[in-house]
Amino acid sequence: MMGHKSLSTVTERISGPASKAWDVGDEAARRMLKGADIIHLGVGDPDLDTPKPVREALTKAIEAGKTHYAPIPGEYALRDTIADHASWLYNAPVKAENVIVCNGAQGAIFATFQCIAEKGDEVIVLEPYYATYPAVVTAGGATMVSVELDLEEDYKLDIEKIKAAVTDKTKAIIINSPSNPAGAVIDREAVRDIAKFCCDNQIWLVSDEVYWSHCFEDDHISPYAHIEFRDYIIVINSLSKSHAMTGWRMGWAIGPDHFIQAMTNYSQAAQFGINQFVQNAAIAALKDKSTTGEFNAIFKGQRDAFCEELRQSNHLSFSKPRGGMFVLLDVSASGLNGEEFAWRLLDEENVAVVPGFGFGEGFSHTIRIGYLCDEEKLKEAAKRIVRFTEKLAHQG
Ligand SMILES: Cc1ncc(COP(=O)(O)O)c(C=O)c1O
Repeated sequence: MMGHKSLSTVTERISGPASKAWDVGDEAARRMLKGADIIHLGVGDPDLDTPKPVREALTKAIEAGKTHYAPIPGEYALRDTIADHASWLYNAPVKAENVIVCNGAQGAIFATFQCIAEKGDEVIVLEPYYATYPAVVTAGGATMVSVELDLEEDYKLDIEKIKAAVTDKTKAIIINSPSNPAGAVIDREAVRDIAKFCCDNQIWLVSDEVYWSHCFEDDHISPYAHIEFRDYIIVINSLSKSHAMTGWRMGWAIGPDHFIQAMTNYSQAAQFGINQFVQNAAIAALKDKSTTGEFNAIFKGQRDAFCEELRQSNHLSFSKPRGGMFVLLDVSASGLNGEEFAWRLLDEENVAVVPGFGFGEGFSHTIRIGYLCDEEKLKEAAKRIVRFTEKLAHQG
């Protein structure tokens, strides 16, 4: 695609196929505003309220005058709290100086790639990947190299495949466990192996952990637990999914000192810090250790109910997610690609999902569905998806 002459080339790099992945969901939202009765499972936004103590902490912070510029890398008390939380999660000490507060995980990961990769560098991503990664990686000029994982292997991380894709230009590898869109969880041994490999080869390992609290079968495993490999590890996290706080735009990155310094300079240029009152409320979220367990149980129930209903069709293939919020469905047996399937499902069955082309070239035959609302609604959505698929499969 040719960019307009008056715009920079970065505008082309951030306008790949993935930028169109939300069109079906956007159209569904427009129809819903006009009164259409649609089950919208197309955005990664939990159908849950932010916990009350966090909302109260926000009001208190505003009343207490926390409405000023905050220190660029974040409020000291919040960085301390994030470090404590990370030390608890990784069962290994994390220092506040190694934390920078960002505008959601998205802001954190974008800033990270501005700071670590540029033209001439290659960044390995595992496909199916979170749809914003191509723009994030290539905005600064780096090239994205995809390594495709297999449905038949439950999208298991294949370190040999990754090694085969590494060249002397490889600057970073992104892992995302539990993953969006496939719900895959990387096991302890593979996490250690990839962390060691990256450290030995001086390659950054960027670990996107926004679904850390949505592991249903296993413990969440982070490479950051390995102190010996930390020189090359960057963790990305946020409160969006763990605490139903997508709209708060509260995230952070954890990494080595020189990386945090670079991120601070970047933040100074890009946003001059993050809302002070939101940071104060975020402390309340991180100090509360019960919400994440409650949310985990809710999502596990929703996942089970939804997947059980989807199994009623043997024309739909998927790997039951071990974590996260989504199921990635192979809809090839319908005779449609994911995009055609998603549009027709919206028109004919009033269910909104995301077509898979945004998750990698090899995934245009899939759709992503978020199990993000109550079980009854999810079962109804699954019934409609099954009915629609069966109808098409029999026509074909
Ligand atoms: C894998 C992954 N990383 C990052 C993000 C961005 O999250 P945040 O709301 O914290 O910016 C998302 C949001 O859907 C995600 O799925």
